[in-house]
Amino acid sequence: MIFSTDLYTFLEKSDCRSFIPIVEGKKDIIRNHGDYKIWQSLLQQLPDVKPSLVNFNQDKVQIGLKEDISANKATQLRELLLQLQPWRKGPFDLFGIRIDAEWRSDLKWKRLVPHLDSLEGRKVLDVGCGNGYYGWRMLGGKAAFVIGIEPYLLNVIQFQAVKKYIPDTPFYIVPVGAEELPGKLEFFDAVFSMGVIYHRRSAFDHLSELFSFLNSGGQLVLETLIIKGKKGEVFCPDGRYAKMRNVWFIPSPGTLELWLQKAGFRNIRCVDITRIKTNEQRQTEWMTWESLSDFLDPADTTKTVEGWPAPVRAVFIADKP
Ligand SMILES: C[S@@+](CC[C@H](N)C(=O)[O-])C[C@H]1O[C@@H](n2cnc3c(N)ncnc32)[C@H](O)[C@@H]1O
Repeated sequence: MIFSTDLYTFLEKSDCRSFIPIVEGKKDIIRNHGDYKIWQSLLQQLPDVKPSLVNFNQDKVQIGLKEDISANKATQLRELLLQLQPWRKGPFDLFGIRIDAEWRSDLKWKRLVPHLDSLEGRKVLDVGCGNGYYGWRMLGGKAAFVIGIEPYLLNVIQFQAVKKYIPDTPFYIVPVGAEELPGKLEFFDAVFSMGVIYHRRSAFDHLSELFSFLNSGGQLVLETLIIKGKKGEVFCPDGRYAKMRNVWFIPSPGTLELWLQKAGFRNIRCVDITRIKTNEQRQTEWMTWESLSDFLDPADTTKTVEGWPAPVRAVFIADKP
């Protein structure tokens, strides 16, 4: 399903045909993934149901009502969706089945959406889009279409499970990393990179990629972990950060502004700074592994278990001239 003709037709129609050979080039790697066959089989077992309603403009991404599905099919669907754990981003509501993901992603969306230019009629790219929660919200904002890029395959599979019930919506995920897209695209009106930059070894390469994906006049939304500190200060964790092995650099707000400026962005503004609490990131039935409360020092929750400052996140918006 990752390589459906639908995806290729959509990419052709949306003037993104240059993505097709990149996806094709990844076919073998993806098909050889140890879990690929299991995931495909789970997707194929999803029951057929027609949703009578779709709503992307509320906290939960809602597809269908409880009344649309028989009790047997609802049990079957729930069990299959649970097998696609861990669900990190949500919430979703599929035919009355609430997928209460680890992250209340709606809270971040609420913090940033008042600051965005209207997405109406815009071509949107969501870099590191996870399972697509935000892409659906962007469609709720009337984006012309959304393309997500996401290298972690289970996220793409979760997206496919949701998309099965609304196949004609103009949102697709392409299973690649930002660095694999063609350079100099200059195509999208809005580009989101949320929770990605600190996972990249080179922040400047990431910002250059984001700049090159945007049309002139386009808007970047960059969301990241930050530290308290002066312009120029950056935290490079010695070892893990909140048990994550892949956090390379966490800038201060002033430093990030400087990085964005150096990458060519203008009209840079920090629109939100929030300390993440355990009502936003927590263990649920849909993500039964460790979560934020396990990453913080129980004696002092302003620190991570490693003794670093606890996670604080910021949203920056900037324009491409
Ligand atoms: C912390 S999650 C954030 C997900 C979502 N954007 C959000 O804000 O909730 C980071 C995501 O970036 C993806 N990612 C990691 N490296 C990437 C890369 N080089 N290009 C695009 N996405 C990447 C990960 O697979 C993961 O889904």
